[in-house]
Amino acid sequence: MVVAEVPELTSAAGYFFRAGAEGKRTCPTVLLLMASAISMGIADGLENKPRARHMHLAEITEMIHISSLIHDDVLDDADTRRGMDSLNFKVGKKFAVLAGDFLLFRAFSAAVSLDNTEVVSLLATAVNNLVTGELMQMSITPAQRCSMDYYLQKTYYKTAALISNSCKAIAVLAEQTTEVQALAYQYGRHLGIVTAPILFAMEEFPEVHEIVEQGFDDPLNVKTALKYLSKSQGIERTRSLAAEHAKLAASAIDDLLDSEDQVVLNSRQALKDLAQKFMRRTK
Ligand code: FPP
Ligand code: MG
Ligand code: MG
Repeated sequence: MVVAEVPELTSAAGYFFRAGAEGKRTCPTVLLLMASAISMGIADGLENKPRARHMHLAEITEMIHISSLIHDDVLDDADTRRGMDSLNFKVGKKFAVLAGDFLLFRAFSAAVSLDNTEVVSLLATAVNNLVTGELMQMSITPAQRCSMDYYLQKTYYKTAALISNSCKAIAVLAEQTTEVQALAYQYGRHLGIVTAPILFAMEEFPEVHEIVEQGFDDPLNVKTALKYLSKSQGIERTRSLAAEHAKLAASAIDDLLDSEDQVVLNSRQALKDLAQKFMRRTK
């Protein structure tokens, strides 16, 4: 799917898909588990056509994800990604931007071949949200830095919108009811949301307000913020909010119709375990 007319573009676009460079592949894992979790058993057969379409969507979503990371590293001037050279470091900014564009275009061409306009539209929404989240981060005002609503909206766009919309697209492709589509979406949304302890610390110590307004380019601000953070309930409150999201993600799975199929049940358990694991991750 990443083979281009020009060999250099093929190797740049395939950079993060090489063996050893492929990362955790969280998006496709979650999506394929979701596909199994909402499967109505033997009738829609896990081994045949719907599975192939779901795998295709999982590949498409991973390509969009990689495309966004390639562009992100250009914007952030990052030298590394996944513990190796970033693509911009390796081949230069201009080439990296084009490789990201190419992956995005290839992802959408593949999405069109699924012949489902709602799926294409969900993926377009996800990309729109990724770009908006990135812009919200770049253009943030001092007052917006202190707003939990702004923070959560930006975080949803940057980290949860792709997985939530793609989870829904899995349910759409499976021709599931709108209820199941909504539960799949909710699972992805709660899985992707994380939060900033410093905004909680700010509620306890109004002095932190000014520091957050200024941002964290100045290392002194980081040091002072960490001092207040350790005195505050910020970390505990962040943990409990993350736990709440993990619980809501799990309850979206529990709200699916009962099933006796072991593959379905195992997939549902794996999705709930993933939500717990995400809650405890450090990055
Ligand atoms: C990582 O953020 C960046 C993202 C999750 C999204 C970036 C989105 C764009 C650049 C918009 C363009 C999107 C497409 C699909 C072309 P980070 O810099 O906070 O984290 P990280 O670098 O440590 O992973
Ligand atoms: Mg970055
Ligand atoms: Mg960034």
